[in-house]
Amino acid sequence: MNDAIITSNIRKRFISNERTGFLRRRKIVVEALRGVSFRVRWGEVYGLLGPNGAGKTTTVKILSTLLIPDGGYALINGHDVVKEASIVRSIIGLVLYPDKGFYSRLSGYENLVYFGRLYGLSKSVAEARARELMRLVGLENAMNRSYEEYSLGMRARLAIARALIHDPSVLFLDEPTIGLDPISAREVRELVRRLKREGKAILFTSHNLWEVEEVCDRVGIISNGRMIIEGSPRDIKDMLGLKYVVEVEVQLNGRVETIRVETTNPADSLRRVINDAEARGLNIIRVRINEPSLEEAFVKVVKNEGE
Ligand SMILES: Nc1ncnc2c1ncn2[C@@H]1O[C@H](COP(=O)(O)OP(=O)(O)OP(=O)(O)O)[C@@H](O)[C@H]1O
Ligand SMILES: [Mg+2]
Repeated sequence: MNDAIITSNIRKRFISNERTGFLRRRKIVVEALRGVSFRVRWGEVYGLLGPNGAGKTTTVKILSTLLIPDGGYALINGHDVVKEASIVRSIIGLVLYPDKGFYSRLSGYENLVYFGRLYGLSKSVAEARARELMRLVGLENAMNRSYEEYSLGMRARLAIARALIHDPSVLFLDEPTIGLDPISAREVRELVRRLKREGKAILFTSHNLWEVEEVCDRVGIISNGRMIIEGSPRDIKDMLGLKYVVEVEVQLNGRVETIRVETTNPADSLRRVINDAEARGLNIIRVRINEPSLEEAFVKVVKNEGE
């Protein structure tokens, strides 16, 4: 079977007009993507990470046919995003931040029906699908309120519902949880996991690395338009040699002390500390292993890149 997403050496350059003074401008070239490659499998959530301006949204826009790359190619279920753009559009769902294109005077429900019709659904199918999706994203109580009255979080949920209207098998979610309260963000993550279980492929971007770690099977960190490192969050931490911290609390003559060891092999270290403590007749009270965070990995990778 094809991979869901294949991105091969894509490049994108923007020419922009920079203001250099009153009425004075000069052209500057922005190398947004300098050859980015990665693959996403079916049933996989892939996190695209990187600092502001790294090229994440540009990548998402190219994969979703909104921008044409200057070099390289990308395939969605084997279909070229440039040469077979309309097939690709029928396979993918897209959430971009900030979301655009909703009609503020229409209700959330009416907006969904409208987009369903654009995708060629019949009126009755579009209506049924819109109702189902409003329920899925937790907007059933706001079905008939107009979009302009929706809060930021409600708008984010509606954007996800719209992305799902034609039951796409590949989803692009560019910062889908930005501005959401913790409960809503958790619901979005649960939804992502449910879609993953259905076998969909999901490309996810977020600056909340804790969230990325929870929801993504693999991540790629890009910086300055280049892929710097790729793998499961755990693999990446191992590749970077990040340290775990093993802490064992022991009782010593009635006093509590903490033995603290930094290590890349927490299982071995824990065994050693416990054996030592027991050999010395110490009473072990509590054991804790702190895993390095994806955030530490991110900081290390991106800082090295900048030097
Ligand atoms: N239409 C455009 N014209 C000129 N430059 C652009 C355009 N779109 C993006 N860029 C530039 O391309 C680079 C990559 O931008 P992009 O939006 O892909 O970053 P990002 O990784 O999504 O960042 P963020 O985390 O802030 O969303 C930036 O330098 C940006 O200024
Ligand atoms: Mg972006």
